[in-house]
Amino acid sequence: EGGGHHEDIAFSFEGPFGKYDENQLQRGLKIYTQVCSSCHGLKFVPIRTLADEGGPNMPEDEVRAYAAEFMVADEASNMHLYDYDEGAARQLTENDFFPANESQNAPDLSLMAKARAAFHGPAGTGINQFFKGIGGPEHIYNILTGYTGEERVQAGVTYYENTAFDGGWIAMAPPLYGEDVEFDDGHANSLHHEAEDVAAFLMWTAEPKLMARKHAGFVGVIFLVLLSSLLYLTNKRLWKPVK
Ligand code: HEM
Repeated sequence: EGGGHHEDIAFSFEGPFGKYDENQLQRGLKIYTQVCSSCHGLKFVPIRTLADEGGPNMPEDEVRAYAAEFMVADEASNMHLYDYDEGAARQLTENDFFPANESQNAPDLSLMAKARAAFHGPAGTGINQFFKGIGGPEHIYNILTGYTGEERVQAGVTYYENTAFDGGWIAMAPPLYGEDVEFDDGHANSLHHEAEDVAAFLMWTAEPKLMARKHAGFVGVIFLVLLSSLLYLTNKRLWKPVK
């Protein structure tokens, strides 16, 4: 899935040594919280992981304060795991998941960056993905920046023309226009910056262990190179009397 036009973005986490930029993830969290969460949920993401090294790496007291801003009522919560008074509302803690939300049929965004691809070619072979990556975060970026401004109403639903969306018409109104969120450090908040930051954040929610995986892969390659050289030398030594 994920047809349409897609621009490639040089995200910090791409390539064999790519790393998440924790400041970017924190900006993305702010955009998600202030804009996207009014329709979308992140129900598979534990709030405590905001403190993870290699992720947003937020101080634990900030994470606790962040969680406490959410109140969940019985039916609106994903707290079926916990036992508490029916009808009660309570604050979330860092041990809860982000709230689920499906208002207006907006899909959960926890895994969206892994569920979509931006690159398919050439000729549908997918070979581009070896060079550019699968392009989940690019897809999100391109959706957010791909609105043409055209709208149409069909069976009572408004659709917005979007060059990155399969079929060209999406039911999500443009959520970002630029300058939607102010960053504490005064970081640029044009539409393109915001779209990149929230796409990076959603890549992290979908693949929080990406850096550990790359590191393990790298160690594996080094190990195999060493092992191959030793086996080669052993082979030479063993066959020396015969050859
Ligand atoms: C779909 C991201 C804000 C309503 C989507 C999709 C993404 C996304 C990636 C899936 C596109 C696909 O299927 O390929 C975001 C982000 C937001 C945001 C990053 C914040 C910056 C909102 C808001 C609303 C909303 C505020 C409601 C007012 C929807 C709906 C869909 C959708 C209804 C389904 C569209 C369809 O399948 O036609 N969003 N969204 N989104 N979003 Fe959002």
